[in-house]
Amino acid sequence: MLILNSPEVTQETCLRWKKESPIAFVPTMGCLHEGHLELVKKAKQLASKVVVSIFVNPLQFGPNEDFEKYPRVFEQDCEKLKSLGVDLLFHPGVKDLYPEGFSTKVSVGDIGNRLCGAFRPNHFEGVATVVLKLFSITNCDFAVFGEKDFQQLTIIQQLTRDFNLPICVIGHPTVRAEDAVALSSRNHYLSPLEREAAGQIPKVLELAKREALQYPEQTVEQLLVKLRPLLTEHGLKLQYLEVTHSRQLLPAQANDSLMSLALPHLFVAVYAGTTRLIDNVSLAIDR
Ligand code: PAJ
Repeated sequence: MLILNSPEVTQETCLRWKKESPIAFVPTMGCLHEGHLELVKKAKQLASKVVVSIFVNPLQFGPNEDFEKYPRVFEQDCEKLKSLGVDLLFHPGVKDLYPEGFSTKVSVGDIGNRLCGAFRPNHFEGVATVVLKLFSITNCDFAVFGEKDFQQLTIIQQLTRDFNLPICVIGHPTVRAEDAVALSSRNHYLSPLEREAAGQIPKVLELAKREALQYPEQTVEQLLVKLRPLLTEHGLKLQYLEVTHSRQLLPAQANDSLMSLALPHLFVAVYAGTTRLIDNVSLAIDR
């Protein structure tokens, strides 16, 4: 496995490879868990060259967020990627991607101000900017993103369409622990009690899915009223619990019936102690 930190050398290498074979790319911030590794396995199925990046992107962290304390375990990550047969690990420093004078950013529009974006100003602008740079450096044909961050996946698909990028963006289902909690690098922060409380999140998502299938005539608010206490009564602090519709993740109205919505989707963000956790589920009848 090649390990490179120079954007120029990585771009040169990928351009050379691309003449012979397609490239599949998985961007990450490291502290890799089975969720990330499943994306890498998917990438291996898509193309004969697989590139992974590890970069904790300062542009997508707010001033009071965990940029400094975000877990960095590079050696362990390298071993995992090597054993999966990754061809190139791109691991730039902050100055490599954002040298003196860097100034252009991607504006993602309204979708970036909803759901997580409402609580993390400029987060998705930071994500879209780094992902566009990484796409351009790796020259990838495929890029794999997790549905765990469904809003991020949607924004990257929109970016790819809007900027005519010749890249196929693939969503991969959320990988979960035994108790169905979505795997996340931030789960490392949880105390045993908080980890137990987090177990409530997938239960609520599963209930929402069952409710949507059994009682599709109920309104969005009727559903949310049932779900909210199941999170808060277990010591989780609710940041948002929202139903969206359509590919643009537009907000559903409280009195919309679930069956009237195209692509209804439930999103949740909670705090377990000081750790913010997110998850989501499709409420569409066919999934
Ligand atoms: P990171 O949080 O490291 O996630 C990297 C990729 O792994 C994302 O596509 C994310 O959705 C996916 N992922 C994380 N947990 C997952 C799980 N349990 N199941 C399936 N996929 C999972 O997301 C980022 O990094 C950054 O925003 C990035 C895209 C790298 C830009 O900086």
